[in-house]
This record gives sequence, C-alpha cells and structure tokens, in this order.
Amino acid sequence: MNHFLDIHKTDPAALRGIIDSAAAMKSARAGRSRGALDDDLPLAGQMVALIFEKPSTRTRVSFDVGVRQMGGQTMLLSGQEMQLGHGETIADTARVLSRYVDLIMIRTFDESVLIEMAEYADVPVINGLTDRTHPCQIMADILTYEEHRGPIKGRKVVWSGDGNNVCASFLHAARQFGFDMTFTGPAQLDPEAEFVGLARNAGVRVTIERDPHEAVKGADLVVTDTWVSMHDSQSAKERRHNMLRPYQVNEALMAAAKPDALFMHCLPAHREEEATSAVMDGPHSVVFDEAENRLHAQKAIMRWCLGL
Ligand code: CP
Ligand code: NVA
Repeated sequence: MNHFLDIHKTDPAALRGIIDSAAAMKSARAGRSRGALDDDLPLAGQMVALIFEKPSTRTRVSFDVGVRQMGGQTMLLSGQEMQLGHGETIADTARVLSRYVDLIMIRTFDESVLIEMAEYADVPVINGLTDRTHPCQIMADILTYEEHRGPIKGRKVVWSGDGNNVCASFLHAARQFGFDMTFTGPAQLDPEAEFVGLARNAGVRVTIERDPHEAVKGADLVVTDTWVSMHDSQSAKERRHNMLRPYQVNEALMAAAKPDALFMHCLPAHREEEATSAVMDGPHSVVFDEAENRLHAQKAIMRWCLGL
C-alpha cells in the first residue's frame, strides 16, 4: 500500500513510473468520449472517497471521472457535512472510512490532517492539496511539459509570484526530476525556507531573484498562480496584490524567457492579475493541457497507490 502524500516523500523511480503510466493510459484512450471506460478496468470493485474541505473544480471532477474510467466508484464528501467537521477525530474518521472504501483522496487546510489520516487509514491516502503542497498538480505539470518539450531534467523552471503550496511542490519535483528552479517574487512571499533547504541539500540549483525580467532569462518554463490562495486571509488581499503586481506574467515577461518557453498556471486564474489573458491564451500557454492532464496523472497515481 502506497500513500501519495508529497513529491519529495515519493521515490523518484516511482514518480517516473507514474508519469510513464499516465502517458500510456492517456494515449490508449485517445479519441474516446470522456465517459467511455478504459480497456482494462483496474479499479473495478474499488470504492474511492473524495473528501473536500476546500472548494475545487479540477481536482473534484478529474478524480471522479478518472475513477469511473477505470471501472471504480466514487463517493464525494464535503468536510463540513462529515462528523470530521464537527469534532470527530481524524484518526477515528480514517479508521472508519477504511472499513468502507479502498482509497481516500483528501483536500484539506493543515497538512497535519492529511498526515494523521494516512497514519490511521488502512487504505492509501492521496494529497489533493493542503495549505503547504499540491503534488497531484505538479505530476500533471511534469506530464504536460514532457509531452510538449521532452524530458524536464536539466531544464530551467521559473516561478513568478507567491511562493505558495503549488510552488512548494515544484521545488520538491525539482529534486526528484532533476530540474533547476528559480523563484522570483517579494521576499515576504518566498517559498518556505525548509523546502528551499531540502532542495539545495539534495543538489538542486535553486535561485532567488527579485527582478522578474532577470529571473526569466533562459527559462524553459514560466509558472505562476493566484495571488491569494484559499488559505490566505481575504483581508491581506490588497497588500498581496500590491506586493505581487511587479511579478505579473505578461507578454513582456514571456518575451524575456527562451523563445520556446512554456507558460503554466494550475488554475483557477484571476485574469489580468497574476497573468494576462494575452499570455493565458497565447502561444506559450499550456494551461488547459495541464488541467486535462490532472485526469491522466491522477489515474496513474491511484493505480500506483493500489498496486494495480
Ligand atoms: N488546480 C486545481 O487544483 O484546481 P481546483 O482547485 O479547481 O481543484
Ligand atoms: N494556491 C492555490 C491553488 C489552487 C489550486 C490555493 O491553494 O488556493
């Protein structure tokens, strides 16, 4: 039984296997309607609980569709509607759910909830985003990069904006997949020092550069995300916007990257804030391929978790 909790906690060979398996499953169903079953149905007879303590469009739909394509069944649960949201312990919830379902995906706030769920569950647990990390997103992003440009190993990835949960998982992936990572953003919103240290200690070239135009020089991939995440206080919105405005990804910034650089955003986007529509819908952008690849990457993650 394998939990999928974070990219840096997962063996690099397993991660590579997941990407390869996702690519193979994707090509095997090319041209099929979304609701059509896969040829082999590894999740037949399996029940998957999808728990959301925060809003979601992509994660919710892509997990649900992915399970069904592989022949399994899903149960969508919102944290507030569960006893979990009303005082039942995470450990007891994990023990109980393990008697009903074969796999648990959870999107939550504090990562301690995810970790405790995994500790007490007898079935695999998948991280569907916490305040700290978003590993499923970055698996889809690696798949997307490699579909368009070949191996990501040795490439230069530049994160512009808030050093948030998605940025953290990119840092973890830099170590496991062997790419360089540059962060450009205000010092107050740097990625967590622990994660930068982990990557650097593992030999990853991590650069912090305050000037966004300097940072994107030679970039193979430019990535950004919302300026205000779900766990950020709305009262900090104006202050964050003021700090982050210089780090907007616009055509001028993309022009300073390599001519064939890709642009990624995990979505949902706030157009004309962290990135302009000219970039979001422009020639460098692969944002909707990323969204589609959530489906394929997560199908491979679920198979790996269940050893199927
Ligand atoms: N990118 C992502 O995780 O989107 P949702 O919040 O819609 O799931
Ligand atoms: N950083 C964003 C990602 C959403 C998918 C958030 O946590 O709200």
